[in-house]
Amino acid sequence: MITPAEIQSVKQRYGIIGNSPLLNQAILVAMQAAPTDMTVLITGESGSGKESFSKIIHSLSLRKHGKFIAINCGAIPEGTIDSELFGHEKGSFTGAHEARKGYFEVTDGGSIFLDEIGEMPLGTQARLLRVLENGEFIKVGSSKVQKTNVRVITATNVNLLKAVEKGKFREDLYYRLNTVPIFVPPLRERGEDVVLLFRKFTGDFSEKYHVKPISLDADAQNILMRYGFPGNIRQLKNIAEQISLLEENRDVNAQTLSKYLPAESSASRLPMALGSGSSGDHIDFSERDLLYKVLFDMKKDMNDLKKLVLESYQNGGINSTIMQKHQGLFEDMDSGFSQKEPMESNPSYSVPLVLETQKSNALNNEDYEEESIEDIVHEEDDNSLSLEKKEKEMIVRALRKHNNKRKYAASDLGISERTLYRKIKQYEIE
Ligand SMILES: Nc1ncnc2c1ncn2[C@@H]1O[C@H](COP(=O)(O)OP(=O)(O)O)[C@@H](O)[C@H]1O
Ligand SMILES: [Mg+2]
Repeated sequence: MITPAEIQSVKQRYGIIGNSPLLNQAILVAMQAAPTDMTVLITGESGSGKESFSKIIHSLSLRKHGKFIAINCGAIPEGTIDSELFGHEKGSFTGAHEARKGYFEVTDGGSIFLDEIGEMPLGTQARLLRVLENGEFIKVGSSKVQKTNVRVITATNVNLLKAVEKGKFREDLYYRLNTVPIFVPPLRERGEDVVLLFRKFTGDFSEKYHVKPISLDADAQNILMRYGFPGNIRQLKNIAEQISLLEENRDVNAQTLSKYLPAESSASRLPMALGSGSSGDHIDFSERDLLYKVLFDMKKDMNDLKKLVLESYQNGGINSTIMQKHQGLFEDMDSGFSQKEPMESNPSYSVPLVLETQKSNALNNEDYEEESIEDIVHEEDDNSLSLEKKEKEMIVRALRKHNNKRKYAASDLGISERTLYRKIKQYEIE
């Protein structure tokens, strides 16, 4: 029976930070498996901390006084991996000037950690299976069967069953390795551990680089906990190092932290792009929510504009009272997606031009298949149609007033001559 206190002491010994249930569970399984001689398969994403588990297993086993060797199967060229693991005889291949012992021979009585086992070539897999089954191996270029007693611990960040399906990994070997599976959870599934780890890393870096430690406010901590960390703890460590070195303001808020977190492909990146971040409330906005919001805002603006046009129509033009009354609307427009130019260049702001911009913005969203969005768009469209009618009437009035002199009519309407010309054609005004 392993107690929580024993788990804590193992964490301390191996510098493992974190307290999440999934992490504790993984450590518990490692501790239970350690004294048995069973083969262990450690799975987990890259950077999630698989390596420490192999060390825990070896050092809590009866082989702890034996050798421990960690080998990254992905880093050894296919042509030499057999020789590295099982040794070779002199002259067995070009360049084999001396006989050499392989790791399985040298580690007799100890443990071998085979990292990235999914990268092991099929030929080597056959040799490994033989060692696991009966402790036998043959050096490259030899015919003599040798014996060894090695405990094998393996790790992978790929789905080995998929590799089996693709014919890249032996099925019999997979089941043989997977006697005791240990799942190391990704960082994003460890809740507040990410904050503890960040604190630990920035603390370490502040010592290393003799800089003031970084501290995160509550919002920044939230962002950290919601971030996906595809590179897991390795990535977090890099980010902690960057911030420790580069950030002038040591009290880091959400916005500052976001600068160091690469954009994610999911919707979670949107709130950061919008620069909210001061509150956690907006974090779960999906792309669709945002689109709805834009459309609803647009609809509201459209109604305001409709009112404005009506008023100005009834008053025979836009006067300063109307402008003032709807000032908020113009300010919105200015910072939003409408054309800025007419408002800046001409004090008598062009309503019709804005209407046109609004409409085209609404219609641009027609591609979306969401029924409710289409409904909104169509309603916008209806609004636009009646507004178009009003717009046409205003243009006709202005032209009449100025004896069909476009220059003056345009100036009166607050639009450029070019726009007026386009609109005359568009509405087929004689
Ligand atoms: N729980 C943890 N606490 C502190 N550091 C950790 C923890 N897990 C992993 N690390 C560190 O993160 C880095 C990546 O771990 P590593 O075992 O190499 O990942 P993997 O082998 O799964 O790709 C290493 O520097 C390791 O020391
Ligand atoms: Mg590794």
